[in-house]
Amino acid sequence: MGRLIIASNRLPVKIEKNGEEMLITPSAGGLATGLKSYHKGSDSVWIGWPGVIPQNKEEEKTVTKLLKTEQCLPVFLSEDLISKYYGGFSNATLWPLFHYFTEFTKFKARYWEAYLQVNEMFAEAIIENAQKNDKVWVHDYQLLLVPNILRQRRPDLKIGFFLHIPFPSYEIIRTLPKRQDIISGLLGADLIGFHTYDYARHFISSVKRLLGYDVEFNQIKLENRQVFIDVFPMGIDYKKFENLANEVQSKSIQERSKVHQDIDRFLMSIPDRKLILSIDRLDYTKGIPHRLKSYRRFLKTHPEFLEKVSLIMLTVPSRTDVEQYQNLKNEVDILVGNINGEFGTLNWTPVIYFYRSMPFENLIELYSSADVALLTPLRDGMNLVAKEYIAAKVNQKGMLVLSEMAGAAKELGEAISVNPNDYADTAEAIYEALTMPDEDRIKRMRAMQRRIKRYDIHKWASEFMKALDSTIAKQSDFQARKISASLRKKILSEFRGAKSKVLFLDYDGTIQRYFDKPQAAIPDNELYKLLDQIVLLENTSLVLISGRDRHTLEAWFGDKNFDLIAEHGAWVRQTGEKWEDKKTVDSDWKEKIHPILESFVDSTPGSLIEEKDYSLVWHYRKADIELGVLRALELTDTLSNLILNQEVEIIEGKKLIEIKASGINKGTAAVDFLDGKSADFILAFGDGTTDELMFKALPKDSYAVKVGSENSTADYYVSNYKEVRNFLKELLK
Ligand code: UDP
Ligand code: G6P
Repeated sequence: MGRLIIASNRLPVKIEKNGEEMLITPSAGGLATGLKSYHKGSDSVWIGWPGVIPQNKEEEKTVTKLLKTEQCLPVFLSEDLISKYYGGFSNATLWPLFHYFTEFTKFKARYWEAYLQVNEMFAEAIIENAQKNDKVWVHDYQLLLVPNILRQRRPDLKIGFFLHIPFPSYEIIRTLPKRQDIISGLLGADLIGFHTYDYARHFISSVKRLLGYDVEFNQIKLENRQVFIDVFPMGIDYKKFENLANEVQSKSIQERSKVHQDIDRFLMSIPDRKLILSIDRLDYTKGIPHRLKSYRRFLKTHPEFLEKVSLIMLTVPSRTDVEQYQNLKNEVDILVGNINGEFGTLNWTPVIYFYRSMPFENLIELYSSADVALLTPLRDGMNLVAKEYIAAKVNQKGMLVLSEMAGAAKELGEAISVNPNDYADTAEAIYEALTMPDEDRIKRMRAMQRRIKRYDIHKWASEFMKALDSTIAKQSDFQARKISASLRKKILSEFRGAKSKVLFLDYDGTIQRYFDKPQAAIPDNELYKLLDQIVLLENTSLVLISGRDRHTLEAWFGDKNFDLIAEHGAWVRQTGEKWEDKKTVDSDWKEKIHPILESFVDSTPGSLIEEKDYSLVWHYRKADIELGVLRALELTDTLSNLILNQEVEIIEGKKLIEIKASGINKGTAAVDFLDGKSADFILAFGDGTTDELMFKALPKDSYAVKVGSENSTADYYVSNYKEVRNFLKELLK
């Protein structure tokens, strides 16, 4: 099955230098704390930055040795790279942008260069350690380019990617100068996971709009493979929190830690005293000033709580070299000082503020003692602290006040949900949480506990791995049908041995690429030369079978020695003959339909109408793709009500809707062509929905080849028009 390699910027542990000594300590942040439990229990290797810059080879060796005990491997980064890749592109460009803090977002060419370089370094480190067919699981926004670098260099690897932060809407991502590179980087993965459906939806929308790929449900159709998108809301190691919470609560007063004893003393000093808790990295996305302002408002509007409640605010230092984090620190210091100055008494501190991290045991003590957890991020990919509080609140006598902007809010519907920008509302939510009857909060907490317990970190990781495996199984079905070197050899040898051969070639997307405007897809010299040479082959009929109108085919191929089928079979021109009208029906219906299409052109900028003898086509390739898809649905709906009794059918093509006379299609046209001929070798290439009818109608022993990765009835696949041309060139050898 192969091993698992995890890669993320931050390892589950970090190395700190204390004089000559190297110390290994746990990392903070959801990615590291969450994934750590899964990593421990599996035989995975975790590759990442150790958080320290060794000064010489000796120190590098020491770090590597220390990390080995944790199944971790280091990627060492210089001070310069850390400043530009980590402090720069990761945390001054992507982090603020993906959290909708556009005003904080810096775009600098040197940040990008460093980001490229470090992503290369990570990919190299993975490649060095990856055996054939290993699985690689890449994490988070610091490594968005790694999947595609791996895909290019090691196509054997199975690559999963998970984004731990929000994926913003297209309107945000489009402001990023390197947006295409970023999305293409990610598309190297087989499976891309997000915490919520909204993030996945935004990503798919950006893929469609920025790169123009087709998407079917959760599958992105690249030329030669598919990328799967899915939602996996990250969980926590529930049992670990629950067990330790039970343990610390059952300790006698004397056995309790210093922190726990202090909490007990605080709670018992006044009857009915309450504790509100917040824990986060000191990050502007966490809404810490907003929380403090709401808390101040609460103290003002509910003076009965003065001296009775304190907010313990644990803020963990984070990214201290980045300007906005320094500014935030000053702002929070001042706000805390103001609140304590305004409301505090000799016996009471309204905000008990820590700027440091705490050992795990103390976190549990805080969680399990707090009456309310107050978490007010302005944007947060998930917020694991919310889930940890719920797991550790073993007596269920607590309540969670949670920002609706946290990914976790989607799963924690029983929490009191707030908009952190609304201070008055948040102040009331604090009041509601503190005064909620026990019966009510126990009921709500139990419901949340059940859910979080079920979908814990192990379930999360195993669901992701399961999805990655099934993705790969689906890919392999597609890959298995791709024309291999040996199959190509077999087809070529049959071709050479056959007495009467027929080649059916669709035009657009099959032997020529797509252009924004259909009339721009003029054949190039290479194509002319190729087709001219094919018709010189003995006993070989070449048929260009297209949905195009006959005038265009005449203009492009009128003087050529091969057969032309236009408008899906409505017109046929045999070599050297005149065009024959196969469809002698009236086309009055076009007059009715044309104005409808015109109204769709008016309401869908960039779309256009193509008129043929027996069909009308509405193209939306150049329109905004999401609007185009929406309007295409509307158009199909409008038309199907209108043409019930007409001899007309509606076909959905590639970024087009075609309304055409029914009864004739590429299937009937191909069968007609073959009628009376004793062809003993038939090869057909096509990329669109209309080619499927041809694939179905051909005799069983024909070779039907689909161009692209969409589902098809064809037995075989090639990736794109270039591969078709290469195949045709081989026939000439
Ligand atoms: N955390 C920690 N040490 C601390 C405070 C917090 O390890 O002193 C952990 C906390 O338990 C949680 C993580 O840091 O697992 C924060 O994750 P979250 O998803 O809430 O936010 P992030 O920091 O990832 O944005
Ligand atoms: C968030 C990010 C992680 C990151 C963590 C801590 O959880 O999604 O990728 O590791 O914050 O930030 P840091 O910059 O210290 O790694």
